[in-house]
Amino acid sequence: MLCLGIESSCDETALALVRDGALLSSVLASQVDVHALFGGVVPELASREHYRCMGPLFDTLMARAGCAVTDLDVVAVSRGPGLLGSLLVGVAFAKGLALATGARLVGVNHLHAHLLAAGLEQPLSFPALGLLVSGGHTHLYRMEGPDSFQTLGRTLDDAAGEAFDKAGKLMGLAYPAGRLMDELARDGDPAAVPFPLPYLRNDSLDFSFSGLKTAAAAYLDGIPPAERWPRPVTTAQGAPRILRDCCASYTRAIVETLLRKVERALERQPDLSTLILAGGVAANSHLRSGAEALMRRRGGRLLMPSPALCTDNAVMVAHAGWLLAREGAHHDLALQAVPRGRPIPADMLYARESPAP
Ligand code: KG4
Ligand code: ZN
Repeated sequence: MLCLGIESSCDETALALVRDGALLSSVLASQVDVHALFGGVVPELASREHYRCMGPLFDTLMARAGCAVTDLDVVAVSRGPGLLGSLLVGVAFAKGLALATGARLVGVNHLHAHLLAAGLEQPLSFPALGLLVSGGHTHLYRMEGPDSFQTLGRTLDDAAGEAFDKAGKLMGLAYPAGRLMDELARDGDPAAVPFPLPYLRNDSLDFSFSGLKTAAAAYLDGIPPAERWPRPVTTAQGAPRILRDCCASYTRAIVETLLRKVERALERQPDLSTLILAGGVAANSHLRSGAEALMRRRGGRLLMPSPALCTDNAVMVAHAGWLLAREGAHHDLALQAVPRGRPIPADMLYARESPAP
């Protein structure tokens, strides 16, 4: 089964081809440089860039893979959550392709695709606990299968990636700050600044990171002028100790909070012994080693996509589309894009009697 994946939910235009669950080829055009000028993603610019790049990227992908458009069995597309104007570009392109070729259309939940991407490199096992940490979302799920996710907890305000990016901006780090903060934190003292572990003193599985960003702002404001560093910071090389310590302490607060809630969820759901960790923030080296230590201590199984597959890509969309199509799932041309903050409807159609070709 040849499955095309289309990703345009935020600031990456990406397409990938997966045949029977194995990656054939992928292409990605990042808009990071366009948005870096503004310190965050500008929705109008994002959708224009997707529209400009989608067609040429599709041609490049098909030529590289040596496939014809008529070979496609499934066209899978990120249908949300994301920026509406950006999602519409991908969804409209997918519908056009499906209509023209007769391929099966599958609308994929972008957040679920992040977690299912762990199955590209290791076999997935269900049920599992899923922690999705990205720039826009922080969700804890009970996962029963590729099309069965139950939300156990979510962020009430900022997402984990947003917490990295916003505090990074205050520290003068180039946008998006997560990756650079990861590097700076490697050589810092995580106990140097006593940042609070937010929203832990309750019995909830939800998260709240906005207070942590405020704590970072207050700490940074209190740094004497003589100890401040030149901005912007674009590399870890030559960065002062005070900045490295601040990054390490801030990272520790986020990582420890995430993992304590993971442990709480695992204790409440004793039949779950597998943790799937995914999303852009799952590329964080401190979170990865913390999750490894936690699951080793608990004797459970940990699945994480490799760092390159953690950030937005279309391979995860193609792979999720293939998993769903195998279950007989598909959409018709009524498929809608769903912006961030709105629930994704359970509108998948099933044709179990006539599986995809
Ligand atoms: O999943 P993703 O690529 O896009 C969304 O769907 O949001 O996640 C992007 C987020 C950004 O906030 C970025 O700063 C963060 O992932 N990120 C990291 C790292 N690499 C990317 N955060 C911490 N450490 C990293 N190594
Ligand atoms: Zn994402």
